Amino acid sequence: ETTAAQPSARRSAAHDSAFLRACRHEPVPHTPVWFMRQAGRSLPEYHKVREGVSMLDSCLRPELVKEITLQPVRRHKVDAAIFYSDIVVPLKAIGIDVEIKPGVGPVIADPIRTAADLQRLRPLEPDDVPYITEAVGLLVDELGSTPLIGFAGAPFTLASYLVEGGPSKGHERTKALMYGQPELWAELVDRLAVITSGFLKVQIEAGVSAVQLFDSWVGSLAPDDYRRSVMPASAKVFESVAGYGLPRIHFGVGTGELLGLMGEAGADVVGVDWRVPLHEAARRVGPGKALQGNLDPAVLFAPTSVVETKAREVLHAASALGTSGHVFNLGHGVSPGMDPDALSRLVAFVHEASAR
Ligand code: CP3
Repeated sequence: ETTAAQPSARRSAAHDSAFLRACRHEPVPHTPVWFMRQAGRSLPEYHKVREGVSMLDSCLRPELVKEITLQPVRRHKVDAAIFYSDIVVPLKAIGIDVEIKPGVGPVIADPIRTAADLQRLRPLEPDDVPYITEAVGLLVDELGSTPLIGFAGAPFTLASYLVEGGPSKGHERTKALMYGQPELWAELVDRLAVITSGFLKVQIEAGVSAVQLFDSWVGSLAPDDYRRSVMPASAKVFESVAGYGLPRIHFGVGTGELLGLMGEAGADVVGVDWRVPLHEAARRVGPGKALQGNLDPAVLFAPTSVVETKAREVLHAASALGTSGHVFNLGHGVSPGMDPDALSRLVAFVHEASAR
């Protein structure tokens, strides 16, 4: 069928990239590296093109999305691009009133807290996000053999923004709903799983080579609660894209006690923050899955020699996985104040130190 063959043909140029090979546990010439939030405020060229355009408006402009996504690839020579968008874009696309306040994060005008509120969370259709299809298409054509990673927010992390109405430290309202109204909660995260699946499928159909599910804040849950209240919805997302055969990455912060379950939910690659060394993460995740991580982003503010020592420690810990199955990344995102040159040097160092 032509519509199905087209995205896979688009992706084929990246098939043998170090990044995709590592995700599949195949031998690699060097450990691939990319950075979460590599596009964005650490780069002066980003500030320049974003001038006068709000964050969420910038996500609706395919040419701008293409330029911002390519900026860190050009500058740092990373092994993969991550699509420039945001986890709240699909929510906005189905009519949720959300904006991203600079220095704050996503803010929801009318939080979702009751059964009636759930009606506002309808499935996402490809026609809701034509600009995503267009931007991914432009990027895949331009990137050639460099893979493009698509992404979405996981049900728990999206629920946290929707229920709290914005960013929160303790996620108290979210947890109160989860513990106090389990049936309402189950329907909420199920609806979010459907929206997230829709958003990932649009990106996959348009040609991305891998997808990452960001459950950034799920580390605030105990394993039993994760298993009972969150895992079914996240598993539903992974299951919905399993048929494409592309690597599925699952990431969260502070998830040391959840790593095994996050793998079980259906990930091929498990993202690890800096709190758990990769050899221990490999034990927790079990065989057959690749790992992504896990340099403490704060290390980038230390002198180059320290960055290199710490990066070497990450590579060494990853050797527990064997000769492949490791994607080098930070344990969380690039921060706005980071020196872009330090990031470029780190990419070159990882490539050199891991060359086989
Ligand atoms: O380079 C990339 O990683 C690609 C693009 C990307 C953005 N957001 C762009 C962005 C990705 C993958 C995201 C995901 C995202 N968005 C997550 C999960 C990742 C993580 O860090 O855990 C979360 C929790 C969000 C919600 C969100 N959006 C936050 C917390 C913020 C920062 C708010 C602030 O000002 O501190 C945003 C805004 C945002 N998303 C920016 C970028 C480049 C900054 C926008 C700006 O220029 O002001």
